[in-house]
Amino acid sequence: MAASASYLSLVVLVALAAVVSGQLSPTFYDTSCTRALATIKSGVMAAVSSDPRMGASLLRLHFHDCFVQGCDASVLLSGMEQNAIPNNGSLRGFGVIDSIKTQIEAICAQTVSCADILTVAARDSVVAVRISSYDPRRAIMEVPLGRRDSIDANEAAANSDLPGPTSSRSDLELAFSNKGLLTVDMVALSGAHTIGQAQCGTFKDRIYNETNIDTTFATSLRANCPRSNGDGSLANLDTTTANTLHNAYYTNLMSQKGLLHSDQVLFNNDTTDNTVRNFASNPAAFSSAFTTAMIKMGNIAPKMGTQGQIRLSCSRVNS
Ligand code: HEM
Ligand SMILES: *[C@@H]1O[C@H](CO)[C@@H](O)[C@H](O)[C@H]1NC(C)=O
Ligand SMILES: *[C@@H]1O[C@H](CO)[C@@H](O)[C@H](O)[C@H]1NC(C)=O
Ligand SMILES: *[C@@H]1O[C@H](CO)[C@@H](O)[C@H](O)[C@H]1NC(C)=O
Repeated sequence: MAASASYLSLVVLVALAAVVSGQLSPTFYDTSCTRALATIKSGVMAAVSSDPRMGASLLRLHFHDCFVQGCDASVLLSGMEQNAIPNNGSLRGFGVIDSIKTQIEAICAQTVSCADILTVAARDSVVAVRISSYDPRRAIMEVPLGRRDSIDANEAAANSDLPGPTSSRSDLELAFSNKGLLTVDMVALSGAHTIGQAQCGTFKDRIYNETNIDTTFATSLRANCPRSNGDGSLANLDTTTANTLHNAYYTNLMSQKGLLHSDQVLFNNDTTDNTVRNFASNPAAFSSAFTTAMIKMGNIAPKMGTQGQIRLSCSRVNS
């Protein structure tokens, strides 16, 4: 009963997403490149098994693509957005996408966009790291496809539109609402911070100066993140498990163990506290909200039809 009800809501969700996004459709490559999705999936699985952090890095890459002129692979172009403050020295996974693209070009020339490869890679990354006991059908997320690639990128927009680790709760809400996402989407997507790592420079002020942080947690982080220097040393975003996507993120926030300032503001005696409590106590509610929000994020301003191009190589526009 429960399984078929959630399957039904997934079908409705996918149908809704297709309507909202115009001609994007989960079956977009079913005839033009039948092996596209399997090729992306095996590329992601191989990359994640040799580097467990890669799932996190690919998920973040998709977010940073979508928030800057839509999900159009602008972030994959060499230089440009990659030099923006939230990206430089911190985004990872370009090589994985480039190598999947090379494999796909060999089977279907100039057919599958880099924007779609990145969208599917982010989805497959979530599948690779999810806790399967949630609801596998929801976690699998049939993502709408048919995006085309940009012929440009926008470093200034990457600096202005991506939220940063010192953002306040209202900054975060604004950054997401500017992209058509709700506060509940923002809280759910922040749950991505249950995987991957952050550099000391992004949380230093928090562990030395903030008061809404668990003392033992702060002390243990200081060992590898000195007051001066060491800005590049890494800490897991989720203190409990680094490579599993689950709702522990929200339980951590409730015990003042959010790593970034922008994490802890979601549970700081304020308007998003109840959503955090709900996701902490109800894994299915988190899983469902995360899936919905991922699809919404993937549908931000896609280029379709005759807009943009299908790049031959993800790191540069066609000559
Ligand atoms: C809510 C606003 C957000 C802020 C302020 C934020 C900020 C950050 C920062 C500062 C880092 C560490 C980067 C570094 O030190 O190299 C990070 C890592 C990460 N972020 Fe976010 N983020 C946000 C939302 C998201 C969203 C929506 C997603 C995806 C759905 C996401 C996925 C990730 C992942 C997976 C990592 C770890 C990446 C890795 O290990 O390579 N973040 N984020
Ligand atoms: C990006 O980072 C590199 C290495 O840290 C640095 O040399 C370069 O100046 C940075 N680029 C920008 C635009 O800040
Ligand atoms: C903490 O606050 C002090 C006083 O405002 C400031 O000088 C320092 O740069 C802040 N950050 C760290 C990591 O100590
Ligand atoms: C939470 O906010 C309310 C209203 O602003 C205040 O009365 C209360 O003392 C705060 N509680 C904590 C634990 O900060």
